[in-house]
This record gives sequence, structure tokens and C-alpha cells, in this order.
Amino acid sequence: MKNPWLDLPKPLIFVAPMSGITNLAYRQIVKRFASDLLFPEFVSIDAMHYGSEKSDELLTYEASERPIIAQLFGADPELFHEAALKVKALGFDGVDINFGCPAPKVAKNGGGCALLGDLGRCKAVIEAVIAAVGNDLPVSVKTRVSYKQVHVRDFCKTIADLPISNLTIHGRKFEKPYEGAADLDCIKEAKQLIPFLVCASGNGHTPEAAKYTLDYTGCDGIAVARGTFGKPWLIKQIKEYLATGTYWQPTQAEILETMLQHARLASQMDTERPFIEIRKVMGWYIRDIPNAAQYRAKLVRVSTLEEIEAVVKEIQISTPSL
Ligand SMILES: Cc1cc2nc3c(=O)[nH]c(=O)nc-3n(C[C@H](O)[C@H](O)[C@H](O)COP(=O)(O)O)c2cc1C
Repeated sequence: MKNPWLDLPKPLIFVAPMSGITNLAYRQIVKRFASDLLFPEFVSIDAMHYGSEKSDELLTYEASERPIIAQLFGADPELFHEAALKVKALGFDGVDINFGCPAPKVAKNGGGCALLGDLGRCKAVIEAVIAAVGNDLPVSVKTRVSYKQVHVRDFCKTIADLPISNLTIHGRKFEKPYEGAADLDCIKEAKQLIPFLVCASGNGHTPEAAKYTLDYTGCDGIAVARGTFGKPWLIKQIKEYLATGTYWQPTQAEILETMLQHARLASQMDTERPFIEIRKVMGWYIRDIPNAAQYRAKLVRVSTLEEIEAVVKEIQISTPSL
């Protein structure tokens, strides 16, 4: 079995799975900037069971994206087994199980981080996925610091003996899912409890923070998420910083060029309305330019590649120093 978790050089630096964000275009742009792994948006095992077209769309990828790992969410071990079989048949390079999502539509149905409320079920879910993919695909898991009274250390003790390739931990708890500093002590403790790879998530918004997180926790890698918003080059910067202590900063002209590349990738996506998702993403690229609000107001209404190109042209003309 090929196993990207084991085969790739360490530390692993990659873009974390993000629902509503890591579509084909997003993945392709971060791949250009050296993301070691890619994840499509997570997919519901229930939706897969009912043959939803949306799931098929979410699980569409291109060979150039390898290694690419599908992430599943849900609560029923049997449906996890069935979904993992499909992931294997689709040729993914791994299957990841979501034990971290706090979103009501996921957690209220017993999935995501709510699974931590029943550690026996967590084990059953992982075993069902392992039984489905056998030695053909590596199985990994992603979770967060805690769910109500259940701490990730209890989860670690439950899963430590299973043949899992990697645990990624987002260092924030269910009650404050995305706010405040990530709990690096908790990630460090998990790293010590787990015999397989552990990757950190939640404190990688800059190269300096990513290095600090890796050094402090002793983790085998770091998954970066919101730090890549409007900065898909973050992973390249982190890798450079780890290797040399310094890193390249794109000029405003390079930022606009990357924004256009991203827009072109989105326009090639085989979805009905690729520009709905791309609108907010385009706005992130121009955060630091003069009069950003004025251009963002236009970007939230674009429906074609040409309209995005026109806004970029306007920025270039009105700010000749770019
Ligand atoms: C918009 C958004 C969507 C996310 N979707 C997922 C998801 O589908 N699966 C998952 O495991 N984590 C998901 N996460 C969590 C991230 O993978 C990551 O663990 C978290 O954002 C912390 O990293 P950061 O501080 O670098 O953003 C999502 C985060 C955001 C902001």
C-alpha cells in the first residue's frame, strides 16, 4: 500500500479540509504552492448512501491532485463502511474520518465532534472503515480538543492501538470552535499518547506560528486552514521558513496574478455556478490594497471570469504602483 502519510518527508505541511472552501480550484491553487496533501470538502456518509449527486461532485478530483484524501462525516459505522468502500473504488489515496466538526447540521445528528460523546462508537466507526479499506488505503482521523466533558486524551487512549496512519488535532474545543488561541499543550499531550503520526491544526496562520507549533508540540506536521485565505502561498512560505529562517513575500502584482489564476481555475470547474463560491475568496486577495472595500463590493456580485478580470484591471490602473 502506498501511504502518503508515511511516504512524504516530514514535517507534513498541508491545507486542512475545509467545507465550502477546498473545492477543486482551491485545491489546485494551494497545490501550486506546495501543499503536501489535499482534501476535498468533507462528504456525508448518509448522502453517499442515498446516492446524492452533490456527494459525487464533491468527490470529483484530478490525477494531478495526488496525494488526495477523502474525508467522511456521519455517525453510523455501517454507513461509514459503505462510504469507505466507495472512497476506495474512486481511487483516493486515503480516507479520513471527521471527529471534529462542531456545525449543528453535523453534530446534532451525532456526527463530527459529537461522536466523541460515545468513545465506543468512535472505535466502531474507525474499525468499520479499516475493515472496508483493508491494507489498500491508509485511514486517518481528525478531531479537536474536546467535546463537552470528553477530552481528546480519552479519544487518544481509545484509538492508540488501532492501525491508523495519522491523527490531526485542531486545538480548540467544541464550545469555542474557531475563537481564541489553539491549545498547544493539549496537542503536545496527544502527540505523546499516540504511537502513529500526529499533525497539529489551529496555530499555523503565519510561518512563524507554524514553526513554533511544530517545535512546541513535537508534531509530525501541521494542517493550515484560514491562514491560506487570500494567501494560498502560505505553505510555500512555511516550508521556506523552516528550511532557511526566511521566506518570500509576494508583491501586490504577484498577488493579483495569483488571484486571476484562482479565478481561471474556478471558471473551469464543472459546477453550475462556480462563481458563487469564488466571490468571497476573491475578496480575500485584495484585503491589503487601497480602497479594498470598493473592489470587494464589485467582487461579491461577479458571475463571470471576465467580470473578475475587469475588477483586477481596474485595480491595476487605479494603483499603478502595483
Ligand atoms: C470554513 C471552514 C470549514 C471547515 N471545514 C472542515 C471540514 O470539513 N473538516 C475538518 O476536519 N475541518 C474543517 N475545518 C477546520 C479546519 O480544518 C481547521 O482544523 C481549523 O480551521 C483550525 O485551523 P486554522 O486556525 O488554521 O483555521 C473547517 C474550518 C473552516 C474555517
